Amino acid sequence: MDSLAQRRHTIRTFWEERVPLGMLSGTPDFLLTQVEQAYLLEHVPAGSRVLELGSGSGHTLIRLAQKRQCECVGLDYIPGMVQLAQAQVQAVGLSGQVRIMAHTLPALPEDLSPFDVVISNRCLNSLVSAEEQQQVIQGIPSLLKPGGLFLMLENTLDGLEATNRMRQAAGLDSIEEAWHSRFFRVAEVEAWQQPGFRIEHFAHVTSLYYFLSRVINASLCAQTGEALAYDARINQIAAALPQQVGDFGPVKAWHWRKQGQTA
Ligand SMILES: C[S@@+](CC[C@H](N)C(=O)[O-])C[C@H]1O[C@@H](n2cnc3c(N)ncnc32)[C@H](O)[C@@H]1O
Repeated sequence: MDSLAQRRHTIRTFWEERVPLGMLSGTPDFLLTQVEQAYLLEHVPAGSRVLELGSGSGHTLIRLAQKRQCECVGLDYIPGMVQLAQAQVQAVGLSGQVRIMAHTLPALPEDLSPFDVVISNRCLNSLVSAEEQQQVIQGIPSLLKPGGLFLMLENTLDGLEATNRMRQAAGLDSIEEAWHSRFFRVAEVEAWQQPGFRIEHFAHVTSLYYFLSRVINASLCAQTGEALAYDARINQIAAALPQQVGDFGPVKAWHWRKQGQTA
């Protein structure tokens, strides 16, 4: 096996092993997921037809169906993850509104009717190379209606480094890029724009949450000896506040727009 194939296999095994964690399969930091979902709920227009790349437990699509009356399709390459999401969808009686299918990126599905919105939430980071990430992003217009939106929430090295500069100033160790991810560079994503498919908005979508949880709460815990907990009170407060303060947090949001008039 060459090194890319080996890495692809190791990452896939990582996701397979996370299936038993259920709703925590995306990340044990459920407040982070809450911040990301709140952002998606705010920016996906009500009644949209939505596709999620790497839908995991299916929770984001369930919330979009319940709160925004969206018609949703999710795809994921781990059969256990697809079954988990299907069971969650069935349990809340949304089988007619949310469909979950098995599919492996970077190839894109070809047999789906076009969507108003495509979303990815920390999924494209699991692709093994910049080439595969660029291939998916540049293929998204084929899945969108004219005027359609691609809401991309993915990890960046830029945001991780900004967080680590503050952690170092506070005497804390740096947080490493997750071994199973290839974090984006903001500049490389900008360079992948193409005629008819442009970034119309960029946001530091988890900035305040990361600053308060990973710098301030981490410093307090280091000083008092208290164990770090994802659900610490300060983290809960941070997750409920507007996030557009500073440029912290690896997760950023890009709003890509396909040229054309929405119907
Ligand atoms: C971090 S989880 C996020 C799940 C969900 N988007 C959420 O916000 O909770 C990433 C998901 O992407 C899926 N995934 C990773 N690489 C993939 C690929 N090449 N093709 C399809 N799905 C993939 C994983 O199985 C996992 O369920």
